[in-house]
Amino acid sequence: MGNKIKLGLIGGGLSSFIGIVHRVAAYMGENYVLTGGVFDIDFDKGNQFAVQLELDAARSYPSLDIFIEKELALAEEERIQVVSILTPNFLHFEMAKKLVSAGFNVICEKPITVTADEARSLEKLVQEKGVVFGLTHTYTGYPMIRQMKSMIAQGKIGRIQKVDAQYYQGWINPFIHQEEERKKVWRLNPKMSGLSCCMGDIGVHAFNLIEYTTGLEIDKVLADLDTLYPENELDVDGTTLLRMNNGSRGVITASQIASGEENNLSIAVYGDQGGLKWEQEHPMYLKHLIEGAPTQIYKPGNPYNSEFALESTKIAPGHPEGLFDAMGNIYNGVAAAIQGTRHRVGAFPTVHDGVRGMSFIEAVLSSSSQGQVWVKVS
Ligand SMILES: NC(=O)c1ccc[n+]([C@@H]2O[C@H](COP(=O)([O-])OP(=O)(O)OC[C@H]3O[C@@H](n4cnc5c(N)ncnc54)[C@H](O)[C@@H]3O)[C@@H](O)[C@H]2O)c1
Repeated sequence: MGNKIKLGLIGGGLSSFIGIVHRVAAYMGENYVLTGGVFDIDFDKGNQFAVQLELDAARSYPSLDIFIEKELALAEEERIQVVSILTPNFLHFEMAKKLVSAGFNVICEKPITVTADEARSLEKLVQEKGVVFGLTHTYTGYPMIRQMKSMIAQGKIGRIQKVDAQYYQGWINPFIHQEEERKKVWRLNPKMSGLSCCMGDIGVHAFNLIEYTTGLEIDKVLADLDTLYPENELDVDGTTLLRMNNGSRGVITASQIASGEENNLSIAVYGDQGGLKWEQEHPMYLKHLIEGAPTQIYKPGNPYNSEFALESTKIAPGHPEGLFDAMGNIYNGVAAAIQGTRHRVGAFPTVHDGVRGMSFIEAVLSSSSQGQVWVKVS
């Protein structure tokens, strides 16, 4: 058997949106080989996917339970070592729990679970079993986000006094206005999505990016969420005021009904010495705002960047790196942890980031439902 890490997928087959990003990312660092999985809820479609990718048909499984049973029956050197969970949200917790309990390393899509208690119990289990658990908050893998993190840690903008993250999409607008159309969207169904649609799906990325880049924690939130129609159960838009644990203020605005917007995620952090701003749709440019001087633009691959940002860049300056590359960096971080080689804090989001994210989602919902009161992110 080769030395590459054997990767399994749960979901991620032909009918999946995010599967292609994980598959390409896994191959970017030459660390993994896709070996098997439960590729689709429909077993026939999962098998078609296995044929298309020329995978061993015997390792396309009809369910997670059978996956675990058959893989554990194999000799350790043949066994899948890490499993990526790419299914709708409500399945993450049960699947992760079964896989971690059986000793598999896990890469899991966000939101990690449906409740904060589930996330905490998963964190405990991961610690007990000593497995590696990566959470794919993809945006943390961009070189210029890692540069932003490094510059803030180096004190380049001074003491943080304001954070502002925005995540605007418009894709739910065509579905939201008619009940029949709404039913087609699993993210609007609480049984599949969990407690929240907009804040759980994209607001949590903004939350994670703020904590990731600043190294601060969001202590309290005051939120105003909108479902647009009373009979629509989950939020599709929201504004959340933030109090950070250093006393500074901030805001997260997120929407899936911002008509015409595609994936407009941006983050700005302002300190008493200047600011840093990054936009996901223009990921090559990190703006450094300096009082009384022209704005500086940082770009990937240049020697003036931090070691962390340079390690996260694969190609010479001027060659755009995007979403696949960012996910590739997270997969590389998880690979290093599995192989026991050196990796930085921040090389990949962990189960603890999942606990923080779920605590944020619960606090936001609690604040909004109580009529906009401050709620602690515990
Ligand atoms: N990190 C990111 O930026 C990002 C982006 C998009 C989606 N996501 C997350 O990825 C997850 C999936 O989202 P999506 O948009 O790809 O959904 P999707 O509806 O496109 O795909 C879901 C896949 O899961 C499969 N599936 C469902 N139940 C299954 C089961 N029991 N066993 C095996 N496979 C099963 C389906 O067949 C389908 O292929 C969600 O949790 C979402 O929040 C993350």
